[in-house]
Amino acid sequence: MTIRLLGLSGSLRRGSLCTAVLRTLRDELKPPAEMIIFALDDIPPYNEDLDGPHRPAPVAALHDAIAAADALVVISPEYNHGMSGVLKNAIDWVSRPGYDSVLKDKPVSIMTAAPSMMGGVRAQAQLRETFASTVSRVMANRQVVINNAKSKISDGKLTDQPTLEFALKAIDLLIEEVKLFEKKAVLF
Ligand code: FNR
Repeated sequence: MTIRLLGLSGSLRRGSLCTAVLRTLRDELKPPAEMIIFALDDIPPYNEDLDGPHRPAPVAALHDAIAAADALVVISPEYNHGMSGVLKNAIDWVSRPGYDSVLKDKPVSIMTAAPSMMGGVRAQAQLRETFASTVSRVMANRQVVINNAKSKISDGKLTDQPTLEFALKAIDLLIEEVKLFEKKAVLF
């Protein structure tokens, strides 16, 4: 049975370090796991007037992609000590109805990457808080924070081996969480 991961990057930049990490992880995955990366470029600014059954087409596509995924891998840059607005905006769109959205019970692995020493830890904390609001199953183990990211990523690839192994272990744990959840669902 295929384990379908959906990757979301909070950076729209062509040369994004965050998206490079996501692409590397996608390329390293082995069956039965696979990852689709959903680009957030076309998601409009959140407007509650437009939310609901007639939501904008790109939002509906994101909603359906999340519904079809077994788990999410979310990576954000840090902008002014916070998570990317692009990502927060996307999460807001798929967070309704509150406590019963497509994000409910969805296993989520959160990662951040930044060229700074801090690696986006403050953005990571904000993301955890936001996903707590959506009652997703955010992984506590592991918290992937990639600091000095410019020295670890080159030619659009995460090349630093210890960091890659650490992030891949996070994905392994995410897959274990998916399997555990499925086993429980069978039992009940
Ligand atoms: C940044 N950057 C940044 N880095 C950081 O560690 N903490 C921060 O608070 C900020 N703030 C910030 C604000 C704005 C507006 C920009 C454009 C940048 C640097 C940021 O981490 C860096 O540009 C990353 O490379 C962005 O991620 P991508 O696009 O490479 O994935």
